[in-house]
Amino acid sequence: MPVVWTESGRLELGGVDLERLARDPEVGTPTYVYDLSAMVQEVGRLRAAFESAPHLVAYAVKANSAGPVVRALAGAGCGADVVSGAELDLALQCGVPPERILFSGVAKRDDEIDQALHVGVDGIGAIQVESIEELARVSARAKGGGRRARISLRVNPEASVEALGTHSHIATGHDEAKFGIPRDDVAAALELALADRHICLAGLSAHIGSQLTRTSAYLEAAQMLFELAEGLQGRPGSELKFVDTGGGFGIDYGDGCDASPARFVRETRLLMRQAGALGLAHYVEPGRSLVAAHAVLLATTIQHKATPYRPDAPLSLARRRWLMIDAGMNDLLRPALYQARHRVTELTRQPGERIPYRVVGPVCESSDDFGVHELPVAPPAHVAILDAGAYGYTMSSRYNGRALPAELFIDGGDVVMVRKRSEPREWVDDRLAAERR
Ligand SMILES: Cc1ncc(COP(=O)(O)O)c(C=O)c1O
Repeated sequence: MPVVWTESGRLELGGVDLERLARDPEVGTPTYVYDLSAMVQEVGRLRAAFESAPHLVAYAVKANSAGPVVRALAGAGCGADVVSGAELDLALQCGVPPERILFSGVAKRDDEIDQALHVGVDGIGAIQVESIEELARVSARAKGGGRRARISLRVNPEASVEALGTHSHIATGHDEAKFGIPRDDVAAALELALADRHICLAGLSAHIGSQLTRTSAYLEAAQMLFELAEGLQGRPGSELKFVDTGGGFGIDYGDGCDASPARFVRETRLLMRQAGALGLAHYVEPGRSLVAAHAVLLATTIQHKATPYRPDAPLSLARRRWLMIDAGMNDLLRPALYQARHRVTELTRQPGERIPYRVVGPVCESSDDFGVHELPVAPPAHVAILDAGAYGYTMSSRYNGRALPAELFIDGGDVVMVRKRSEPREWVDDRLAAERR
């Protein structure tokens, strides 16, 4: 939560006073505020863990696709991991060189495969092929377009969901997941790729899930890739250049996180050395860990109410206190989607007693609920939802006819860019846009 409290009890992000922003009529709420310099520093810390080894930090654009964020990370040397033709286009427009782009996803359309094949001189860094069936389709598109497709085979290590230690909705490397090539099919996929003259097998990859707070399952998946890489050594047709051990490095949302992103990398590199795979470049695909902690979602209290709760409890707890804010699940879906918890805090410290408030949004769904947070008895006019930089705006929607939140970008202690909130009117126009045919 790299927000800091000043000595006078004001909450700051990137040196900017958040209460002042929330009260500024030109900013208003709900607004995401991002600290670009801190995100760039995060990249620096991760890249330092590779020391002088050839590597690529392919930023997972889905975590936060705001132009200023992607541009800043590209400027810090990141590539991009994209999951759609539109994300590919965005990454290119933000200055990511084609050869540093990886294209993941289980259901890439033909036109998206063509886009990846025909960008730049000879296509993107690699199309991450997720099934034998997709391999055949990528090969056919390459043949038809007079290209050779550079690919990486994405392997599903089939770990148990428990071993991954993350919420089942964000675990991807297990046998019930739709992602990747199952272990039993990997040998066949490798043979097909090696024998296909329209395919250049450049990499092996795995991504086992998101918000991993310990390294064990990540290292097991990496070990599997290193063994596969070893088996390919000297094989005719093998042009292996990299092993991509995936993203998923967790952050501390308040319950702790044992392993830093740099530790994931250092421990993986140790394995890589033991496996004799150091001749290959090491790719990773982090999203969350680069951006999540360096952002907040600012919201305004619309009203509060108290309802009967525990008549036997001390007076301050006898009624449930609700704090209704103007940010909802349409702005930040994570709590509703997979019971994620974000800390919620006031923007100016108030002395005196604090009591538990159940902080909820305005959307007509019971899951529009940010959980219970200790806040001053007199409810604050504005609050910040912390660690909101990843899977926040990118998952937002206009559900209930609500506007999309504004976004504000801080760099070097100043607000440098703003993307305005959408107008409710735009939603009305959209809903009325159907034309008779
Ligand atoms: C293929 C792939 N790579 C990378 C990521 C980034 O994960 P994270 O944001 O947890 O680092 C994801 C996210 O789900 C993903 O699906």
